[in-house]
Amino acid sequence: MPVARAAVIGAGTMGAEIAQVIAEQGVPVTLKDVSQEFLDRGMRHVESVFRRRVERGRLSEDEAQAKLALIAPTLSYDDLADADFVIEAVPERLTLKEAVFAELNRACKPEAILATNTSSLPVSRLAKASGRPSNVVGFHFFNPASVMKLIEVIVTPETSEETVQTTLEFGRRIGKLPVPVKECPGFLVNRILFAAMAEGMRYREENDATIASVDAALRERAGVPMGPFQLADLVGLDVLLEIGDVLVAAYGERFATPPILRELVAQGRHGAKNGGGFYSREGTPIDLGTKPADPERLVQQVTAASFLEAFRCLDEGIVTDPKDIDVAMQAGAGWATGPIAWADQVGLGAVVALLSALAAKVGPRFTPPERLKSLAEHGGSLRDALPSP
Ligand code: 3HC
Repeated sequence: MPVARAAVIGAGTMGAEIAQVIAEQGVPVTLKDVSQEFLDRGMRHVESVFRRRVERGRLSEDEAQAKLALIAPTLSYDDLADADFVIEAVPERLTLKEAVFAELNRACKPEAILATNTSSLPVSRLAKASGRPSNVVGFHFFNPASVMKLIEVIVTPETSEETVQTTLEFGRRIGKLPVPVKECPGFLVNRILFAAMAEGMRYREENDATIASVDAALRERAGVPMGPFQLADLVGLDVLLEIGDVLVAAYGERFATPPILRELVAQGRHGAKNGGGFYSREGTPIDLGTKPADPERLVQQVTAASFLEAFRCLDEGIVTDPKDIDVAMQAGAGWATGPIAWADQVGLGAVVALLSALAAKVGPRFTPPERLKSLAEHGGSLRDALPSP
């Protein structure tokens, strides 16, 4: 089904940028929120993204104005009657999102696809609330949504094949790179990214390293655009904590976030969006740690932790092609390469040896899974880690 008109519910930073991305690609989009104040703020954010495009010479002033005019702000669900593809981007509270999906079911035509940009709530629960579960799918953008290419398309057991295909097509139509992912807590990219971030943060704690030296070492040596503390400030410490809690509840202590994160959130330091988190607005880090990080050791630990999570995702069949993991990490988090390409390059035998050495030196969290050891022993490839269809 071709999408002639889209809609976004929620005009916060994410919702506004999603509407901007859609309009920039020439698709008319309705932007709905509950108050004029929120809508005005969202439209100001959209305008600021278009303004930056003009300043950087990517669009002319006239083009930017024409694209901006494709966004129709509204306060009423009644204006969603002709939308073919609706993306919910309201705050991450399950009861609120369930109420929105029930409302969308009433307001939208029966064939409309209802998508959610949730980063941490179960898409299946929203599918249930919608009364049309086969038309519901996750459509997960990455910060900053106007820049990062990836959209995770979260497929629940009830999502129809037609819904998946239309969603992938629409993702490509709006200039993004959609990757299908089987539903699980944290989906794909946040699982691997948060495993890497949690390991970077844990290394800092265990080695009394400074925040700035951890971030710099990973930026300079691990092929990532931001270290964990910088990225935490971009994503929002409150959001990070929320997702971290979901991951700990689902998978256990390997996702434990440092106590300082909770303390900063309690102090109201939520990151770049409200004046500072691990760094001040001027870029000064908070006073944590006294020593410089050992770049080689740190990169080893973070690489190993991200690979282990990627391996678990393969083993659970979260993707159908191992290469999708690397594509997703590159397009969603700006990584130069992905954990699968890394393991292919060093070889599974060497990966198991590194994990075993780290398990002995650093802790049991690095213990190589039996299935990985068996693949390495029998000359198998990571594709063999996928469950049989
Ligand atoms: N908001 C919007 N646009 C931004 C931005 C921001 N905060 N920061 C930078 N940009 C834009 C710039 O305007 C520029 O646009 P252009 O290509 O049209 O000129 C483009 O991004 C590149 O910017 P710069 O050259 O100034 O900066 P960098 O090269 O340093 O790139 C970055 C900035 C793209 C943010 C890069 O550092 C990066 O990829 N960081 C990793 C981001 C990441 O991991 N995101 C995923 C987080 S997890 C998530 O979102 C999931 C959710 O569930 C929590």
